[in-house]
Order: sequence, then C-alpha cells, then structure tokens
Amino acid sequence: MAIAELAGKHLVLGLTGGVACYKIAELTRLLVKAGASVQIVMTEAATQFITPVTMQALSGRPVYTSQWDARVANNMAHIDLSREADAIVIAPASTDFLARLAHGMADDLLATLCVARACPLLVVPAMNRQMWQNPATQRNVAQLRADGVTVLGPDSGAQACGETGDGRMLEPGATYEAIASFFSAKPLARRRVLITAGPTFEPLDPVRGLTNRSSGKMGFALARAAQHAGADVHLIAGPVALATPWGVLREDVQTAQQMHAAVMCAVPRADIFISVAAVADWRVAHVSAHKIKKTAAQALPSFTFVENPDILAEVARQPDAPYCVGFAAESEDLERHGEQKRQRKNVPLLVGNLGPQTFGQDDNEVVLFDANGITRLPRAEKQELARALIAEIAQRLPRA
Ligand code: CTP
Repeated sequence: MAIAELAGKHLVLGLTGGVACYKIAELTRLLVKAGASVQIVMTEAATQFITPVTMQALSGRPVYTSQWDARVANNMAHIDLSREADAIVIAPASTDFLARLAHGMADDLLATLCVARACPLLVVPAMNRQMWQNPATQRNVAQLRADGVTVLGPDSGAQACGETGDGRMLEPGATYEAIASFFSAKPLARRRVLITAGPTFEPLDPVRGLTNRSSGKMGFALARAAQHAGADVHLIAGPVALATPWGVLREDVQTAQQMHAAVMCAVPRADIFISVAAVADWRVAHVSAHKIKKTAAQALPSFTFVENPDILAEVARQPDAPYCVGFAAESEDLERHGEQKRQRKNVPLLVGNLGPQTFGQDDNEVVLFDANGITRLPRAEKQELARALIAEIAQRLPRA
C-alpha cells in the first residue's frame, strides 16, 4: 500500500547480526515500493545472515559494510551516509549493537555513522527473550530512549531459538507502518479516537443471517491514518477480512447490538467518534435456535423485524459527546440527503458519498457537510482519502 509519508524520504537502513535479517529483505522492498530511497549498511555479523548481494539487488544501491570502504571520494562514509539521511533505522538491532549504541561506541561503520548522525535514529530490536530481559539490555534500551532514540517493538511470540516470549523483531509490514507513522504529522496527538467499521451481521438462525456489502476498507484506512496522526485508536469492527492496522486496538463484533454495547462502553474515553460502520437498520425479532428447514409441507419462512439502535445518533445525543463524524452512502441527491442526515443525527460533520458502488472499491470520492456548508474532496485511493479526512477532522476539532 502506498504511503505518501515515505515518498522521497532517504533512509539509511542498518542491519546488525541476527536471524531476523531475513525480514529486512521484505522491509526494504516495502520501503522502496513506497518511494523511499534506501541505503543499506551492514555490520560484519549481519553479512553472516543475509548477503550484501541480496540487499543491493532489493535496494538498488551498493551496500556498505566497512569503515575502510574506498568508494566514498573523501573516504568519510560515516559522515556522508548519515548527513544525507532523513532517518537511520537499525533493523534488526542486536543486543550487542544496542549496547554499543548506548555507550556511544564507534567501532565499525554502522556504529560510527549513528554517533555522527544529525537525523533521527530508530531501532528495531531482535533477540532471544532472556537477552531482551537481561538488566543490561533493559538499561541500554532505557538509556537509548532517554537519548531520544525511537525503539520500535519488540514483538512477542515464537522465537527462532525455539523459545517463546518478548524480543522477536516486528514483522516487516509492522516495521514499515511504524516507520511511516514516525514520519507523519501529528495533528491528533493525545486524542483518543473511536471508530466503527465494516458491516454488521444479523443472524436469522445458527447458519444464516443478513449483512451488507461494506468491506470495512474505509474505516480501517481511517483507523490507520488516525494512528499515524498520533491518536490513540480503538477500532470496533464488524465481520471483515482485513488486517488490524499497526498500533490500533481492535475489537470484533458481529451484530448491531454488540456494536452498540461495545461503543457505549468505549465512548466515555473518546474525544472523537468516527462512525463508518454500515450498521444494519433492522434485525429479526426472534432468531431461530435451530436451522430453519426447507420442508415441502412448510410455507415459505417469514420474519418479523425490529429496529436496531442508531449508535451514532445515540452517541451524539449524550451531554458530554465526543466530536462525532457520520458517514452516509446515498444512491441519489447526495447534497440534500447528506445535509438532512447530518442535522437528523445532530453531528458536526458528515462524510457523504454516492454509494453503494463504492463498497469494496479501493478509491472513493466524498463530500463533507458541516455547519458552514459543503466541501468536496477530490477522488482518491481510500488510504489517501483517509489522510485527507483526518486532516479535515483535526482542523475542525474544538481546542483540547
Ligand atoms: N449508523 C449508526 N447506527 C445505525 C445506523 C447508522 O451508527 N443503526 C451510522 C452510520 O455508521 C453512519 C450514519 O449513521 O455514520 C449514517 O448511516 P446510514 O445507514 O446512511 O443512515 P440511516 O440512519 O440508516 O439512514 P438511511 O435511511 O439513509 O439508511
């Protein structure tokens, strides 16, 4: 997925010795695809785990491994490489490298260019759980944080050594997201954002139900964009087949009633509520406990429906309501229906589009309705649109 924050950025990506070096092949590919230029620097230990040939092919640039590399005209690779960078990312960052970094050592090219840097430094630790928990490592990491170094991860789970615990390197996709998030503007810093996304599923019996064609893509893109903008994001999702955006707290629900309960529980902690979910308007009054059988003797089944709670309207009615943003997919006369719906739901901002043809698509075109009238946003891929929408929301927020 293209991330505009990374286009045109120049990164020094430093590999140190560890099995997780294999993840850096994929990370490099993702960064290059997003439009970043990547200069690989490897410690000697790293070259035992993945070859400079592979890293050169993926980054499209010669790899540096030695302080004594004569390819830089003035023979000062440690200065030149760090001066050109928007950030240095050390991934994987080994126990040994973190220790050297914490002590300001300059005993190989990568360590030297970290000491000589004039740009931000991000480290992505990867090691065995005992090595991570070792008081010396914890002391070094605390020192690095105090020195302004950004520590990404580590993850928890199965390790190459066969043990399980903290210390595993973040997956390449998560590392990439964390780097993109690092470069994003933070207009939502310290804001807590609650988002609903996807369809709901209203059961008829244990195997059948009513749902709709919402894919959840827009809500998930907004959750990701809000996280990148510095918010603390809680995403309540109906049944969708989408990966959780990095750094986002996700809660899965099925029915409108479950979504309603989850939102009401979370809303007292939210500063902003973005209601993207396509909530079913009705559910059947009585869900059959057994599968409804198709017998020749039986008449066609019929169902009595009851109305589901209007989650957005209920949140917006609360005396201490967060800043509420509604969504509306209309099939005709968007301008009239959009403003009417905004007023009916009593929300300061409503995002309208001409659906349902946008369901499941990767791009969208929306119109914003607020007390000042209509703002049109140009057609864009959903992730770009999400970024633009988050910027529009941030602009309209009452001061914290
Ligand atoms: N919404 C909600 N709870 C519902 C229905 C809708 O929170 N039970 C929210 C949606 O998440 C969206 C907004 O309300 O932000 C508008 O949804 P929409 O389905 O367009 O509105 P309805 O009130 O159902 O109006 P319509 O008659 O057009 O379906």
